[in-house]
Amino acid sequence: MKIIILAGGGGTRLFPLSRTKYPKQFLKLEGKESLFTQTVQRFLPLVKPADIVVVTNKEYVHHVKNELFACGAEAAHVVLEPVGRNTAPAIALAANYCGEELGVDPTEVLFVTPSDHIIRPVGLFVETVRQVEKLATKGHVVTCGIKPQQAETGYGYIQAGEPYEAGFKVSSFKEKPDKETAEQYLAAGNYYWNSGMFGFTVGTFQQELQKFQPEIFALSQQPLELLLAEFESMPGISIDYAVAEKSQQVVMLPFTAYWNDIGSWDAIYDVLDKDADGNALQGDCLPLACSNTLMMGRSRLIAGIGLEDLLIVETDDVIVVAKRGESQQVKELVNVLKEKG
Ligand code: GDD
Ligand code: MG
Repeated sequence: MKIIILAGGGGTRLFPLSRTKYPKQFLKLEGKESLFTQTVQRFLPLVKPADIVVVTNKEYVHHVKNELFACGAEAAHVVLEPVGRNTAPAIALAANYCGEELGVDPTEVLFVTPSDHIIRPVGLFVETVRQVEKLATKGHVVTCGIKPQQAETGYGYIQAGEPYEAGFKVSSFKEKPDKETAEQYLAAGNYYWNSGMFGFTVGTFQQELQKFQPEIFALSQQPLELLLAEFESMPGISIDYAVAEKSQQVVMLPFTAYWNDIGSWDAIYDVLDKDADGNALQGDCLPLACSNTLMMGRSRLIAGIGLEDLLIVETDDVIVVAKRGESQQVKELVNVLKEKG
């Protein structure tokens, strides 16, 4: 089995801490390891570092290499995309690299994972990955489903069909539904969130690409050097839309470990330790009569009086203050800033 770590996304939902230049996977949100390092470490009980392939780009490569070195995984392979074309082309590139550089054959399993989630405990995770590998070997596209807690629109939704092995056959997969549809899914009770992790053999992946994304397939069948030279002409599409929504081979294993994709400041507040008044404090903070407030400072003291249910994030050039429960709107804030130039 080879582990494909996707580390090329440039999320902005955690602005101002995450920027295009410093995306979420490299943030140290809780604990002292970044989310990327935590991702690498989760796989070290399962595989040798040389069985890990990180797909990223030249902008992030220094973070990736430094962190791999710091956690003793410098033997991991790092593949650089010339341009970002979303996750389906990124995985196709990794599969090509595995074949050409690592001598991987079509029966070998690729376990694909995002690099910007919190997952624990490692033991339970490791067990799940082993089950994914087993199912993937049978020719399935294996997904890991999370019991949904709210009608979140930023996730893929997996409809569980009949029980199959340790999981379920998948009746349908819908990536990022609108709010109304997400609410229907939640009420139906047999939908799971897609965790973003996938398992398949190289052969199954290529067969499904050939069926549903012939353009990506054709480009990715070329020698690695040519593929890299023509990578820019890849259609930009995620694996969720490209394969998971269309394939008939999808199965799902319910994932019972703690999983959080911490896509917002509210989610960060949720995962951090709190003081007796429910404040989550990082950096130099002075909360007087404050409650249920996140204060996250880099270089300056954050002092607050009588604050309730706020999210305060300070960086060198930006301070964002938001009401708890409203942090999904950070995306809009970033859009407005982009428009202003
Ligand atoms: N190398 C590379 N190149 N990595 C990428 C690229 C790319 O072009 N685009 C995204 N990534 C990486 C991100 O860094 C992240 O680790 C992972 O791929 C997933 O990308 P996101 O952009 O974070 O996807 P998402 O959160 O919108 O949706 C996915 O994850 C959800 C769970 O968090 C989907 O799989 C959803 O179905 C799922 O529910
Ligand atoms: Mg994500």
